[in-house]
Parts: sequence; C-alpha cells; structure tokens
Amino acid sequence: MYGKNIETLKKENMNLADKIYIFDTTLRDGEQAPGVALTVDEKIQIAQKLDKLGVDKIEAGFPVSSNGERKAAKELNSLGLNATVLGLARSVQKDIDAVLDSGLDYIHTFIGTSPLHRDYKLKMSKEKVIETAVESVEYAKDHGLTVEFSAEDATRTEHDYLFDVYDAVVDAGADFLNVPDTVGVLIPVITKELITNLKERYTTPISVHFHNDFGLATANTLTAIECGADQAHVTVNGMGERTGNASLEELIVALHAAYNIDLNIDTTQLYSLSEFVGRITGIKMPVNKPIVGANAFAHESGIHVHGVLNNALTYEPISPELVGHSRRIVLGKHTGANAVKAKLEKYNIDLTEEQFQNVFDQIKALGDKGKTVTDDDLRAIAITEISSA
Ligand code: KIV
Ligand code: ZN
Repeated sequence: MYGKNIETLKKENMNLADKIYIFDTTLRDGEQAPGVALTVDEKIQIAQKLDKLGVDKIEAGFPVSSNGERKAAKELNSLGLNATVLGLARSVQKDIDAVLDSGLDYIHTFIGTSPLHRDYKLKMSKEKVIETAVESVEYAKDHGLTVEFSAEDATRTEHDYLFDVYDAVVDAGADFLNVPDTVGVLIPVITKELITNLKERYTTPISVHFHNDFGLATANTLTAIECGADQAHVTVNGMGERTGNASLEELIVALHAAYNIDLNIDTTQLYSLSEFVGRITGIKMPVNKPIVGANAFAHESGIHVHGVLNNALTYEPISPELVGHSRRIVLGKHTGANAVKAKLEKYNIDLTEEQFQNVFDQIKALGDKGKTVTDDDLRAIAITEISSA
C-alpha cells in the first residue's frame, strides 16, 4: 500500500483518535433518500450484512415515525448483533419514549441550532433551544440511555452559540457530540478548524455526520478524522437525504489504502453489500461511483490495458479483490492490440496475423460508430473471420 505508516502520520500533523467508530446510518438517513422505503425484513437483512462487515453502530431508524420503524428497531435490537443498534429522536419526549419502547439502549437525539432552524422551523429562541436540548438529554440519561446529541445544521450555526449548546448538553450527560453538516456546506479547511476547536474544548467523543451536497462528504469526514474525530457517520453507497451522506465504502477504503488505518472491517464484502443495497432500494450506482461502480476497475484504452495486463497497479489504486469487485477489460474505440490478444488467448482462439488484423480493424470500426464490443461480439467476429478463410 502507498499510504504512510500510521505511526508516521501520528508523529506528523495529524491527531488521529485511538479508536474510530463507524456509525452506519443507511437504515435511517439512507432510507430518507427520496423514493426509498425499506420493510422490516429488508432492514434486518441489511443490518445483518453491516454487522458481518464489522461496523460499530447501526442506526435502525426513527422509531416515533411509524409502527414499522418501531418494529424494525425492536427486531434489529433482538438479533444479538455485535454492532450497537440505536434509534433517532428529536429533542421531544414522545420521540425518546418511542426509542425506549423499542428496547434500545442508545439514542441519537437532535435539535436544530442554526438561525434558520431556530427562526423558521422551531420558532424558538437561542435559550429555548438549549433548554429543550438539555431537558431531552437529561430525560434520556435518566432512563438509562447512552446519548448521542446532534446540533442539527451545526455548520451554519454561530460558532460561539454552537459551543454554548454543546457545553450545556455535555453538562447534562451527553456521551457523544455529533456535528451534522446538514446541507453539506463544509469545505475541508473549515472542517479542520471546527473539529480541532471541538477536540480542544471537550473530552466527550466527537462524531461527524456530513452530507454530500458539494461532493465533499468523504473528504470532509477524512479531514475530521485527521483532526481527531472519534466517529464517522456513513451510509452504504452514500445514500441519504438529497445527494446523500459520506459513503461507507469510500471512507473505509480511503482509510485503509491512503492512511493505513484498519478498522476491523471486512473490506471484501463492500461490493456485494453495495449491490444488495442498490437492488433493494432501487438506487443503482452510477458506473463511475468510486470503489463499487461498474467501471471502478474497468479499462478500455490501449495504453491503460497494456499497463494493467503487465501489472494492474499501473492504473488501479487498489486491487478489486480488496473490495470483492472484479477487473474488466472493455473493447472499443480506444482498444489496443494487447487487450484483444489477451481476450483471444482467454477464449483459446488462435488467429493468423492477417486474421488478427481484420478482427482488430472491425473492433475499431465498431468503436468509431460509438459501440463497445462485448466478449461475445469478439468471439463472433473472430469465428466469422476464421470460417471465412
Ligand atoms: O443531517 C442531519 O442533520 C441529520 C440529523 C438528524 C442529525 O441527519
Ligand atoms: Zn443527515
């Protein structure tokens, strides 16, 4: 692997936490992706796969929102998973009661703290927001729950006020402080300043929940981790509200390959998990999605295929096997002779020099018409060429 050794990183200018928790919210924020609704059974299947993968926490859903959500939380909790199962609640007593009714021991409770949320959604003063947050944390703690507190829209909240909110919920007993970038406006340099300040101020673990509106959710999450964040919220395939959340597979692989940080996650299951979740939710990944997209390890251009056939690392950052994916050589307009020869060899097709040139020309001609050539097409072209000799 090309990443620096973790000890080297620690010695340099990073402040990595000793333990980084992976908090998966596919079944809650992921399910909030427009058009997605999971049955209890589907939630169970996904949770079992997440547990097998090795995530630390699974947010089962939002128990107050429906009977199905409560049932899912209850059933997930009774599966005896290694991961901690938890539920979401607003800073409202009936929401917290629904989490308690589901038998969960861990709650993720939140209230909007930004001026936009205070003025236009909650219609609460700054003081009232703090009072409500504190009451809900105290209520949850009094009922024996582990409490993760989120200041919703934290990244558009006045910094001093955000600290007032976190100070108050820490005093009330919050066990984790989560920082949601609710509409994905963070950029890495601001993430660095914010998380560094929070880590300097609190001993309570800091968690991050970053949305992907500017395509920066994974980059910001990595920056937060560099600055000592103890936990990252992620979703399979980066599913979530609007453009989604930091993607589980991107974060895990970047930590593994670029930072040499291993989290006891079985990376070889990432591709099949992505496929499964894509099938169940109906949200298929674009072909160029990092790590799990169909083209993540596919090559067409002659120069790249030549390199890959000699040593795949010439044009791949990691091996596809690391994430349970596979390599594909695609034939088309940009194909070089090496790729065609390798395919013919794979199918035990022997051609004379002249036959090979004719087959190669036909592939290029099809490519020029905007077509790609499948392995079946290649075999058919080669066999026609042989039989016409
Ligand atoms: O993005 C967000 O702010 C959330 C909260 C519920 C934490 O998902
Ligand atoms: Zn969110």
